[in-house]
Order: sequence, then C-alpha cells, then structure tokens
Amino acid sequence: MSTPHPVITIDGPAASGKSSIARLVAQRLGFTYVNTGNMYRAVTWAVLQAGVDPQDAEAVRSATSSILIESPVVEGQTQVCIAGHSLTDADLNSDPVNRAVSFIARLNEVRERLVAEQRVLVLLGPLVMEGRDIGSVVFPQSPHKIYIDASEEVRASRRGAQGHADQIAERDRLDKQRKNSPLIVPAGATVIDNSYITLDQAVEQVIAALKL
Ligand code: CDP
Ligand code: CDP
Repeated sequence: MSTPHPVITIDGPAASGKSSIARLVAQRLGFTYVNTGNMYRAVTWAVLQAGVDPQDAEAVRSATSSILIESPVVEGQTQVCIAGHSLTDADLNSDPVNRAVSFIARLNEVRERLVAEQRVLVLLGPLVMEGRDIGSVVFPQSPHKIYIDASEEVRASRRGAQGHADQIAERDRLDKQRKNSPLIVPAGATVIDNSYITLDQAVEQVIAALKL
C-alpha cells in the first residue's frame, strides 16, 4: 500500500549518525524529521518514572497500556510528549534510559502502539523517519530506504564524545537479536558506511541514493 506522501526511511545501529544525517536530509528537502528512538526512549522514561523494573515485562505492559504519547511538530521535527509533558534531550538520553530502552523496545505491545503512531505521522506530509525497523516494518513499501552504518569503534568514540555513558554494543546485541522487528538491513536499502566521512558527505550520499 503506498503512502500519501514520500517517506525516507533511515535505519542503523546505535550512534551510527542516523539522527544527525536524518535531520540534515530533512532540512535540505523541507521534509519533517521523525526520530522514532525518542518515542521508545519516552516510554522508557515513563516506565522508570513509575518506578517499574524495565525487565519485568508484565509490570511494563500494565504501566504502558494507558500512557498518552503525542508527537507535535516543532521547527520541522516531531517532539515527544507523554501525558502532555514535553520531554527534554536530557530526559531522553539519560544513563538509566540508555540502559533500559532495549528491554522496553522488545515488547510486542509497546512496538504495536508505537508503530501505529509512526504510521499515522505520514499524514503530516513528506517525512524522514529514522530508527531500527522503519524500512523493514513501519514503511516497508517505501522506495526510499537507507541503512546508515559505522564501525563499532567509531560509534563508541562518537557517543563517548557526546558525553553519554552508553553501552552501545549491548544495545545493538539486544536490538539485533530480539524476535519482534530486529535491526536488519531492510530489503532494497542503500547501505552507507560513514565511519570515515563527514556528516556533509554522508548527507550528499543519502540525497544521491534517493529516487525522489
Ligand atoms: O540514537 P541511538 O541510535 O543511540 O538510539 P535511538 O535511535 O534513540 O533508539 C533507542 C532504542 O530504541 C534502540 O536501542 C532500540 O532499542 C529502540 N528503537 C527501536 O526498537 N525501534 C526503533 N524504530 C527505534 C528505536
Ligand atoms: O542517531 P545516532 O545515534 O545513530 O547518531 P548521532 O547521534 O546522529 O551521531 C552520533 C555523533 O556522531 C554525533 O555527535 C554526530 O555529530 C557524530 N557524527 C560524526 O561526527 N560524523 C558522522 N559522519 C556522523 C556522526
């Protein structure tokens, strides 16, 4: 089923450069940028706020079933609001959220909710949507699929330079091995390794690969 507007899907492992590249591509094309990782991070933030153990699947299901998530667009990109509260970058990227998010993201109920929210966003207009399963599950019919990669060493050093204590290898392991929507290179995606190129060069490669 085709979408009413084009969706550029960008997937890849942790700290590969997805968000930076997706934001710049969206700015260049005048599309709305959607960071779906922030939606999984927001649900995780709410679970931790409620004092629930992120590895207790039953408790997480019951804590998340009634959470209200909204994605208002501010300056060309979606924000994440939980129960009317707009979450900051510090809320979304805290060490406890980094540690817990892949446990929350492997639950079927959480994924079904968020995938449904993500599909509705295409009504906003043309999108650049970035995450782990955007080209494989959320918009598999999109002809504009990109997979951003970088070596594990480069990714760890980039995340370290951002000042976050983030066990990216462990998160990648959980994200690649889960049953529901594991991180894969989606069928038909153009793979761009940006270990040794600048952000601007990566953006040029993405734009060149698109068949818009
Ligand atoms: O920015 P970074 O690559 O470190 O992570 P993120 O994109 O903010 O995603 C955080 C976590 O959310 C990932 O490690 C996955 O567990 C989960 N996620 C997912 O399962 N599916 C998505 N479409 C996006 C994120
Ligand atoms: O969204 P994701 O976790 O995949 O990565 P990111 O947050 O966009 O990028 C992680 C860090 O690497 C940021 O500080 C980017 O500016 C930097 N980066 C870079 O220096 N050169 C690249 N070619 C790509 C990203």
